[in-house]
Amino acid sequence: MKAHIVVLPGDGIGPEITREAVKVLNTIAALYGHTFTFTEYAFGGASIDAYGVPATDEMLKACASSSAVLLGAVGGPKWDNVKPEIRAETGLLALRKHLGVFANLRPVAPHPSLTEASPLKSELLAGVDMLVVRELTGGLYFGKPKETRMVKGVEHAVDTLAYSAPEVERVVRLAFTLARNRKRKVTSVDKANVLESSRLWRKVAGQVALEFPDVAFENMLVDSTAMRLVTSPASFDVVVTENMFGDILTDEAAVIAGSLGLLPSASIGAGGPGLYEPIHGSAPDIAGKGIANPVGTILSAALLLRHSLGLEAEAGCIEDAVHVTLDEGILTPDLGGKATTRDVADSILAAIQKSVAQV
Ligand code: NAD
Ligand code: IPM
Ligand code: MN
Repeated sequence: MKAHIVVLPGDGIGPEITREAVKVLNTIAALYGHTFTFTEYAFGGASIDAYGVPATDEMLKACASSSAVLLGAVGGPKWDNVKPEIRAETGLLALRKHLGVFANLRPVAPHPSLTEASPLKSELLAGVDMLVVRELTGGLYFGKPKETRMVKGVEHAVDTLAYSAPEVERVVRLAFTLARNRKRKVTSVDKANVLESSRLWRKVAGQVALEFPDVAFENMLVDSTAMRLVTSPASFDVVVTENMFGDILTDEAAVIAGSLGLLPSASIGAGGPGLYEPIHGSAPDIAGKGIANPVGTILSAALLLRHSLGLEAEAGCIEDAVHVTLDEGILTPDLGGKATTRDVADSILAAIQKSVAQV
């Protein structure tokens, strides 16, 4: 198969981890007889430095006409004081909107040999395998008005949490569809006891649930969900929720896996190119040291193969190789190890080579 992948290394540890994920994709291409071509663009802070904006039109166009986009992370203290319109993070929101990727899939399944890395008791981790479906192009991140203004001489700031019924419907329907190939349970998370937008969310989720009588369904308030994620994480299968709730709950869920550096994500939408990125940020505190955990990005590359290119065997090969590496205890410092980013990636590459050679 031929595919054209746009690579956006971004800022901080972004270039260090995407470099390794591209090596993995190249290895897969060579072993399975695919032709992947890669084009790299500056994005986020790197693009602000080069072009004065976090996302150029040229780069957005290239992403929209690609097979898929692989992203590291954007942002950092160097760009924290620029105008909000040109922040690195604003560029990321613009890219998600441009691609129409309304659903951000964030799988969380702790690896058995990493139970020590999680502060949670190991008995709580048994059987945990959840998929958080985070709405990605609506809600509090995009609602208008969004501004700071003077009201009677006093500074006021406003953000708006707005959803239309179709926006809720499409992401909830996707969550139910995905649940059919898993444990057949959907938890819809909201704050319907307080927020008008959540009352609409709950109503629409309930309507969509009627189309899936074979899938168990529950509503849960977001505060209670935050608690249950760490007291009974194994009780969840598919969790679907509003943009910001999903952002916060998945950083919390990373604690179950053992490190924020492990979790991948796939952002998909109405059938165009998907966007694949780890859930973590640019980690300015460890950038340039060569010790960032590349697993979240490498697993995002696996999701790219699965969701955008339909290459299930190749995706599984990468995931198995990650398991082998973690089982062997080749771990970066976030997981208590001494391995470098390169050591971990090299071990994953070797495991891929070995498994394909055995077939
Ligand atoms: P962060 O996720 O960058 O880092 C939080 C902590 O986790 C840090 O201690 C960091 O060292 C650690 N960490 C994160 N990824 C790691 C990895 N792969 N390996 C080892 N350790 C890792 O969050 P932050 O510090 O709050 O944000 C830093 C910047 O990143 C901010 O500018 C923020 O806006 C941005 N950000 C970008 C994205 C994205 O591009 N998708 C996501 C989150 C945050
Ligand atoms: C993430 C990040 C982003 C988000 C920021 C950087 C805009 O935290 O991808 O989880 O909130 O979506
Ligand atoms: Mn986040």
